Amino acid sequence: MYRSRFLARTMIGMDYGAVAAGERDLNYGIRTLRSMADEGLPVICANLYERGQRVFPPYVIRKIRGAKVGVLALLGEKPREIEGIELRDPAFEGRAALGKLRRECDCVILLAHMEREKLLEILPSLAGVDVVIRGHVRGGEKERESCADTFLVVREHAGLPVFFAGDRGRNLGLLTLTGSRRARPSVIESALIHLDGSVADDPATAEKLEAHRIEERVNQRELQLSGLLARDDATGRLVERYLGIEICRRCHANIMPRFIASRHFRAFETLRLRGEAANPECLACHTTGCGRPTGYDPAAEKEGAVYLQGVQCEACHGPGTLHDRDGSYMKSARESCRACHTSKWSPDFDFETFWKRASHCMRADSM
Ligand code: HEC
Ligand code: HEC
Ligand code: HEC
Ligand code: HEC
Repeated sequence: MYRSRFLARTMIGMDYGAVAAGERDLNYGIRTLRSMADEGLPVICANLYERGQRVFPPYVIRKIRGAKVGVLALLGEKPREIEGIELRDPAFEGRAALGKLRRECDCVILLAHMEREKLLEILPSLAGVDVVIRGHVRGGEKERESCADTFLVVREHAGLPVFFAGDRGRNLGLLTLTGSRRARPSVIESALIHLDGSVADDPATAEKLEAHRIEERVNQRELQLSGLLARDDATGRLVERYLGIEICRRCHANIMPRFIASRHFRAFETLRLRGEAANPECLACHTTGCGRPTGYDPAAEKEGAVYLQGVQCEACHGPGTLHDRDGSYMKSARESCRACHTSKWSPDFDFETFWKRASHCMRADSM
């Protein structure tokens, strides 16, 4: 979804004039695509309905070099089950829109998001279209075949050019049309420009892409994490729950080598070596979350609860379900030391010197 949004925003920035809705553009639901349309993506589709209403406008009319160009979009394949969504007959809906477009515009372009066979089937009933641009690549349909398809269809339907620009934005199609008040427009030139390495990147877009990639990595990690987080049904707030170091390790592997070498990690081992591992007086400071809900509990441990021996991440940062990036999860850790480093057990404690010794941080300023 993040990626789709990025693509949509980039297309808005590129000033796209019309975008035909494809069935997979609805993978995240109507609301998501509609929110992109609200941001300025000119999504159109004449035969997609939701509870009797068109989801998007059927067409747009643009002024291009003094000519009025109508762009109509039709979808050939039903999106996967979405409640209330209905795909109406593209031939019928197309014809209905064409009446008006034909009267108002100098040129009518059909964006057909459908398979070739489907297009060939409905084309005869779509009189008034001047040019067709087809999209939609099926898994088995190879790119080269699809491009060759362009010329094939042109021949079969003399006078009605059908173009196909390939998938994933790897090609840019260029069409030059000419027409007059009396004659409908005709294509005088067409080219497919391969957007390969020979076409220089736009620096501003390249920068945005890099930023997006970084954001995507962070988001993905967070999404995984949020799958672990439980919320209180009534309040919607995160429930405090200890997750154990194995969970933290999944995403913070870089911290692990230093942490595992620390005395905090081995604090339970210290008790075991002294034969004090079952002494409740010692557990509070040599384990994680002892005495708190879902924290270390010798009885639960025997039944296979989360591993919480030793002073783990959550002993300082707090339950993993409170994992936040607003700084609070760091602050709680800075303030945690004194709970265990009491004057009795740690008379020399001083944050600066002790944190230097105990730090797992990879950042130079935290060492
Ligand atoms: C699903 C991945 C994931 C898991 C699991 C995870 N974290 Fe994180 N954590 C992140 C990401 C992403 C950040 C953001 C910083 C970054 O990009 O490195 C982060 C940041 C933090 C921060 C810094 C917070 C801040 O305000 O900047 C702390 C502290 C932290 N994690 C501790 C933990 C602890 C403790 C656990 C185990 C309970 C844990 N994390 C589990 C992904 C995860
Ligand atoms: C849950 C209790 C607990 C918390 C919270 C805690 N510690 Fe500790 N700390 C211990 C225990 C127990 C040991 C001794 C472990 C052992 O050797 O078995 C220890 C050992 C240490 C040591 C090693 C002492 C040495 O001589 O090298 C340092 C340094 C230290 N802690 C720093 C900190 C700092 C800084 C904080 C706060 C950011 C902190 N600790 C928070 C329990 C805690
Ligand atoms: C209030 C928290 C707290 C409790 C309770 C506690 N400890 Fe500790 N323990 C610490 C801290 C903090 C350190 C690290 C002190 C330091 O290095 O400054 C420590 C260190 C130790 C060490 C290492 C000392 C050394 O330098 O070799 C041993 C052994 C130890 N504790 C055993 C115990 C035993 C046994 C009990 C129960 C009778 C116990 N602790 C209860 C907080 C606690
Ligand atoms: C002894 C207490 C303590 C333990 C145990 C602890 N942390 Fe921290 N951690 C801190 C403190 C304090 C900071 C904040 C340092 C600062 O303010 O710059 C911090 C910072 C962090 C940060 C942000 C800084 C960075 O280098 O990215 C992450 C992420 C983090 N901890 C993850 C973990 C994970 C994962 C574990 C367990 C493997 C863990 N912490 C165990 C005290 C602890």
